[in-house]
Formats: sequence, structure tokens, C-alpha cells
Amino acid sequence: MTKICQHPFKTIQIQNTGEVYCCCCYWTDFYSFGNIFDSSFEEIWNGQKAQDFRRQFIDNNFSFCKTDVCDPAFEDITPTLTVPFPKRIEFSYDRHCNVRCIFCRTQSDNQEELHNRLKEKRIEDNFDSIFTPVIQHAELVELNSAGELFASKHSIDIVKKIIKINPNIQFRIISNGILFSKKNTQALDLENRLNSAIISIHSASKNTYDKLVKNGNFNAVIDNVRYLANLKNLGKLQTLQLNFVVTALNYKDMKNFVKFAKDINAKAFFINYHRQIDSDSLQSLLDISLPSHPKYNELVEILSDPIFNDDEHCVVNDYLKNLKPSNPSLFQRLKHLFKK
Ligand SMILES: C[S@@+](CC[C@H](N)C(=O)[O-])C[C@H]1O[C@@H](n2cnc3c(N)ncnc32)[C@H](O)[C@@H]1O
Ligand code: SF4
Ligand code: SF4
Repeated sequence: MTKICQHPFKTIQIQNTGEVYCCCCYWTDFYSFGNIFDSSFEEIWNGQKAQDFRRQFIDNNFSFCKTDVCDPAFEDITPTLTVPFPKRIEFSYDRHCNVRCIFCRTQSDNQEELHNRLKEKRIEDNFDSIFTPVIQHAELVELNSAGELFASKHSIDIVKKIIKINPNIQFRIISNGILFSKKNTQALDLENRLNSAIISIHSASKNTYDKLVKNGNFNAVIDNVRYLANLKNLGKLQTLQLNFVVTALNYKDMKNFVKFAKDINAKAFFINYHRQIDSDSLQSLLDISLPSHPKYNELVEILSDPIFNDDEHCVVNDYLKNLKPSNPSLFQRLKHLFKK
């Protein structure tokens, strides 16, 4: 057996279109295994497209995986073309949210939200018949990488339903943290079922946070993260990850963010900003990982700090790790200035 990414062998991710992926659709350029409204779940999970995807792991030739931006889950497994029911389900179709992060929800979203709502409704209406057998076999459910679990009545209802179907299930929750409080966690009976909590904060100060997260609540997030850190210290939570999407508005907080993660025994996770499809001028301004951005070299300089080598408390995705100075001589001058 070798350590390989377990997602294609164990994970399904459901999008609001009904498409089934094995991890984040951006990491595989929307390589779908099939659609739950066109085929049965069994046909999708071991169908031709799924098998072609898994073959990459046998041939060691990764043409479908964007390994520089993805977050693989490595495990010792022997790759096979067909596999039993997935162990991990990621529900990623409910876009309800209580805030608007400027890099996630763009101006033109209102119209799109209406379309999304109709698509979500179709999944909601068919949820039991499609997912009950899959949930019965699963060990871990992830919610909600499309919106905010704690702000959505539908996602909250799903959590209750899942626990009823499979009381031994564990949860991996990705959240903006505002409503991820002790009270809400206990009300959902999640405290003893939490495997991982991934909280997206993107800043080490209220000032920076407020520029990025509209209608957010930085103090509530920090209180809730401290509650989760306590659960981790008590051995009730395996992973506490703090997400940080790197943009031109928050890159100066990166080092303090690692210090905060270290203080509470969590892991800071730095992700490059992905442009949305309807690119506009705000996006060009935010996208500091483009060599043409005026602050690009400052970001590269910051990333060269040894604080980012602390593997226990920090992960920088390969895309960011591999950024090179756009003009090396300028970079050396900057480095020199920073050292003074
Ligand atoms: C869409 S959110 C949904 C879960 C939850 N609401 C949250 O914020 O964590 C899932 C993850 O995608 C990240 N994200 C959103 N927009 C992004 C973008 N344009 N580029 C990179 N990551 C993004 C968020 O920061 C978060 O970590
Ligand atoms: S290697 Fe990356 S892109 Fe490929 S399946 Fe794993 S997480 Fe997804
Ligand atoms: S909280 Fe999550 S889903 Fe909501 S706007 Fe921010 S990144 Fe997007």
C-alpha cells in the first residue's frame, strides 16, 4: 500500500446541479462522476468516469487533479477502479449564508441566487430517496462547503436527519464560525460527533476582517474558535483548521494569523484566491498572487518567513508556496529593506 489521496476512493461531493465530484470541483476542473438526477448512485460511483479518474492513481499520471491548489487527504490505500460505498459525503449545494465575503459572493450574485435556490430545492425534495442508503454506509459527513451550515434551516435539518439515519456518523464542519457556538453545537447534538472544524477567518484583526466579511462578527468568531480549541484540548475534536484566503486586503495579517493558530493549538491554512467566473475590477485588485499585482513581491517576501515552515500549525498550499519573485533584483532590494 502507498500513501495516496483517498478522495476518489472514499468521498463524494454533491453540488446543487446534482453533479457528483470526489472533492472540490475547482480542484479537478469540474470533473464529474455523474449526475444524481440522470443515473442511480451505484451507476455513478463505479461508472466509467469514476473509474477513469481512479486510474490516475494506478498509472501515477494526474491529468485531472490540480495538485498545486487542492487539499488531498492522504492515506495508505491500494487504488482500485471500483470501490464499495463512499465513506465520506460532502454536501456542497446549499448556498445560504449569513454574510457576504467579498471574494466569495460577487455583485451579480442576486440573479444567480434565484437559480441556485431552484436547484437546491430539487435536491431538498429528493434528499431522502437519494441519500438515505449512502448515509447509512458513511463514516463522515462534511457540511457545508457551499454556504453557511448554521445560517441555513435546510442544512440544520439535514444534520438532524443524518444523525437519525446514522447515529455513529462523524462530522467535518466548514463554517465562517459566527454561529458555531457552544449553544448551537450542543443544540444540534454535534459536540460528541465532531471530527473536524474548519473555520474561515482570513484575518488576525477585526479591522482586516471587516474589510473582507460584510455583516460578519469577528469577536463572535474568535470566541467560538476558542470554544472549539477547548474541545480539541479535551480530545473531542481531531482537527481545528483556520482558513485564510490570501488577498491584497489581508496578506499583512498572515504571520499574526499563524501565531494565533499556534496559541490555540490549531492549524492555519493559507489558500490562494480563486477568481470567480464573472471577473471584475475588484477581483483584479484582490488577486495579489498575480505577478502583475503591485503588492505581489511583498506577498512573496512575507511567504519566505520561516514562520510558515511550522508544519504543525501552518499549511500553505502549493500554489502560494511556489510563487517566485516577479523581478528578482527588486525582490532582493525589498528583502534588504525588510532586514533593516
Ligand atoms: C464557500 S465557503 C463555505 C463554508 C463557510 N461559509 C466558510 O466560509 O468557511 C468554503 C471555503 O471557500 C473559501 N472561498 C470562498 N471564496 C473563495 C475564493 N474566491 N477563492 C478561494 N477560496 C474561497 C472560503 O473562504 C471557505 O474557506
Ligand atoms: S489529489 Fe487533489 S484534486 Fe485529486 S482527488 Fe485528491 S484532492 Fe482532489
Ligand atoms: S461565509 Fe463562506 S459561503 Fe458565506 S460568503 Fe463567506 S466564504 Fe462564502
